[in-house]
Amino acid sequence: MSRDALFSAEGAASIQRCGSCGAEWPFTLTASACPTCDGLLEVIHPHPAMHGAALLSRFGGRCCTHHGSEASGVWRFRELVMPGEGAVVSHPEGNTPLMHRASIAEYAGVSSLMLKHEGRNPTGSFKDRGMTAAVTHAVRTGATAVACASTGNTSASLAAYAAQAGLPALVFVPEGKVALGKIAQALAYGARTLIVKGDFDDCLRLARESSRELGVYLANSVNPWRVEGQKTIVFEMLQQLGWQAPDWIVLPAGNLGNTSAFGKALRELHALGLITKMPRVLSVQAMGAAPFAHAFDTGFTTHEPVRAATVATAIRIGDPASWDRAVRVIRDTNGAVLAVSDDAILDAKAVIDAAGVGCEPASAASVAGVRAARASGLIGADDSVVAVLTGHVLKDPELVVQYHEQMRPVPPRANKPIPIDATVADVARVLQRT
Ligand code: F0G
Repeated sequence: MSRDALFSAEGAASIQRCGSCGAEWPFTLTASACPTCDGLLEVIHPHPAMHGAALLSRFGGRCCTHHGSEASGVWRFRELVMPGEGAVVSHPEGNTPLMHRASIAEYAGVSSLMLKHEGRNPTGSFKDRGMTAAVTHAVRTGATAVACASTGNTSASLAAYAAQAGLPALVFVPEGKVALGKIAQALAYGARTLIVKGDFDDCLRLARESSRELGVYLANSVNPWRVEGQKTIVFEMLQQLGWQAPDWIVLPAGNLGNTSAFGKALRELHALGLITKMPRVLSVQAMGAAPFAHAFDTGFTTHEPVRAATVATAIRIGDPASWDRAVRVIRDTNGAVLAVSDDAILDAKAVIDAAGVGCEPASAASVAGVRAARASGLIGADDSVVAVLTGHVLKDPELVVQYHEQMRPVPPRANKPIPIDATVADVARVLQRT
C-alpha cells in the first residue's frame, strides 16, 4: 500500500499506520504511538464496498433508527469509523443539532453562520464521539483498564464510557484547573480521579508513561481511534447540509486532536467523491495558549511549546500532542490558525449564552474566531461558515457566575442578579426597568 493511500483494498481489515515512518500495524495494536519510532498513528480502513450515492443513502437510511448502535451519530458512519462486526460501547452519542441564530450570526458578521452544537452529546462535549470508538477498541482488544490525561471533558467522557463497558478508568487532571461540572462527572461516573500537581502537559506525559509502563489502554486523542470517532462531527454536519460543503469550518483548538480529525474526515470524503469542495479549516486558540497559532504565523517553520494560561481551561494546553497531524490539515485545506483574547472569548460566550444556546468558554473561541477572521477579511461576509460549539454551558458554572456577578470592571454583557424584598412592589419596579 502506498504510504499516502487513504484506503486499503475493499474487504481488507483496518490497520494502523505511522504518520512518521510509515510502519503498518494491525487493528489489535493497543500502543497509541508507533512502536518503532514513537510517531503518531492513523487508521487506514478498507475502501467501502458501496460507492457515491449508494453509500450516502446507506448513511441516510440509518438516521432516526432505533436499531442498536446505528442510532448513534458515530456508528451510523461505521464503514468510515470502525468497519466490521462486533459489539460497540455506545450511549448512543452524536445526532447533535446544526443551528442558526440571527443574533450570533450578526455578532460574528457572517449572515450564514451555522453552529454545530457538540455540547449536546451524552456527557456534554464532543469527546463522546471519540470515546465510543476508543473504548470499543479497548474492549475488542481485551484491555483491562483505561486512562487519560484531561483538562476535564475527556475525563468526564472516558469515565462514563468505561463505566458502561465495566472497565476501571484512571484520569489525570491538573490541580485547580478543571471546571466544576467536569470534575463532578469524573467522580460521579466512578473514575479514579488523580489530581496532578502540574498542568495538562504534565498530566499527558504522566498518562503516556503510565500507559507504556503499566499496560493501561490510553484514551487520549493521540489514540488514533479517538480521531476516527471525532471525524463524525464533520460527516454528520455535512449530512445535515445535504453534503454541500461550507466555505469554512471553525473550531477551538487545544491538543489538536479535533483539528486532526476534521482534516482526516474531509480528506476521506473528498477521496471518496462524497464532497467536491474542500472547506477551509480555521483552528482557534486562546492567546495565552497559542503555540499552534504562533507557528502558523511563521509558515510552521517553528514549533515552540508555551506555558499556557487562559480562562478557557479546556484549551489550556502549551504543548499540543497532535501537532504534525494538524499541520497537515491546515495545509491540505488551505486553512488558517488564529488566537483570540480571553476577553473576546468571554464576550462571544455571553452572546451565545444570551441567545439561549449556551456553551462552555473554550467553545466560544470558535465564534470569537469567526468574528476576528471576518474583521480581518480572512472570512468574507457572504462565506458559508459552520462553527463548532464543543461543550455544554453547564460544564463551567463557576465562570458564568463570576462573569455576571463578580468580575471587575463589570463586563459589558453582565446580567447581574437582583436582590429584592418579598413584595410585589419590588417585582413591579424590576419589570418597569426591564
Ligand atoms: N473544546 C473543548 C470543550 C475541549 O474540551 C477541548 C479539549 C477542545 C475544545 C480542544 O480540542 O484538544 O482536540 O484541540 N479538551 C481536552 C480534554 C484536552 O482533556 O478534555 P483538541
